[in-house]
Amino acid sequence: MTDASACSIIGRSLARVQQMLQEIVASRIDVLHAAARRAVDAGGKLLRPRIVLLAHRALGGSDETSAIAFATTVELLHAASLVHDDINDESSTRRGLPTAHAELGARLALITGDFVFVRMLHALSASHTDILPGAIRLLADACAALVEGEAQGVLRAGDFGMTENEYFEIIGQKTAALFAASAELGAIAARAGAEASERMRRYGYELGLAYQIRDDILDIVASAGSLGKPVRCDLAQGKLSLAPLFALRSSTRSSEYLRPGADPAHVVQFLHSCGALDYAATCAADHASNAIRALEALPPSTARDGLSALASYAASIESVTSPQSY
Ligand code: FPP
Ligand code: MG
Repeated sequence: MTDASACSIIGRSLARVQQMLQEIVASRIDVLHAAARRAVDAGGKLLRPRIVLLAHRALGGSDETSAIAFATTVELLHAASLVHDDINDESSTRRGLPTAHAELGARLALITGDFVFVRMLHALSASHTDILPGAIRLLADACAALVEGEAQGVLRAGDFGMTENEYFEIIGQKTAALFAASAELGAIAARAGAEASERMRRYGYELGLAYQIRDDILDIVASAGSLGKPVRCDLAQGKLSLAPLFALRSSTRSSEYLRPGADPAHVVQFLHSCGALDYAATCAADHASNAIRALEALPPSTARDGLSALASYAASIESVTSPQSY
C-alpha cells in the first residue's frame, strides 16, 4: 500500500499478501486472469488481512507463514464475494473501476468470482498443517454464513416489516462472520487458547457489525465519487438498512419517503431530521467500542493498538478513503 504501511509493524507481511494475491490469480485464460487481478487489486483496503496479521501479532504469534497464508485466503474470499455481490446488485463500479459484471456481463463475472473463490484453497495450503483442519472448518462456516446472509438480504428486499434484529442477523452473516473468522484465524496462527480465540472472534464480529452499519449509512449519505461505487442503491432495491428501519418505527410517514424511486435528497433530509442517521451512526460507534473492549484483556502492544484503530476506522463516517496504516 503506502510508504507508511511498508514501515509499519505488519507492512512487510502485508506486502507479501499483496504479492501472493497477484500470483495466485494467474490463469492461462487472459480474460479470466485480467478480471481476477482487478478483483484483488485496485485500492482494496485489505482490512481482513490486516486483522489476521495484527491478531496474530497481538497474541504473541511467530508463525508468519501461516498468518500470511490465512490473510491471503480471507482477502480472496472477500474479493470473490464482492464479484458475486456486484452481479446480484447489478453494480457498475467498485473502487472507482468498472465491475466484472459491468465489463464482462453476468456469466463471465460469475465465473470470475468462482475462480477467485477456489484459488482461496491454494492460498490456504501454504499454512502449516497442524492448524489446517481448524482453519478449514472455520472458513467453511464463514463461507456458509456469507452465502446465507446474502440470500437473506435478497429474500427480504422490499419487506418493510423487517425488524432491526433481522437486519443485525443479516449483516452478522454477510459481513461480520468473515471479520470474526479473520480475527480468529490470527489466533489460530498464534496457537492461542480457546479464551483468547473467542475474544478475537468477538472483536472481529463487533467490528464487522460496525463496518456494515457504516457502509449502509454511506450508501445513503456519501457521493459515488468518494466511495468509488454507486450510492443510494439499497433503498432503490428495497433493501432496508438500520437508518430506514429506525425511521419506519418512529414516523408514520416513513414508507411514503422511503419508497423506491423517492427523491434521494428528500430521503437524506427525512432520515436526518427524524434522527435515524444519528441513531445508526451511534449504533456503529457502540459496536466499534464493543470490539475495542474485547481486546482489553490482551497485553498492551502496537498490534493491539492497530486492532483498536481498525475498529475506530470501521465506525468512522468521515474517513471513507483509507484506514490507518497499521
Ligand atoms: C456486500 O454487501 C456483500 C457482502 C458483504 C457479501 C456477499 C456474499 C455473497 C455474494 C455470497 C457468496 C459468495 C462467495 C464467493 C462465498 P453490500 O452490497 O451491502 O456492499 P457494497 O455496497 O460494497 O456492494
Ligand atoms: Mg453490493
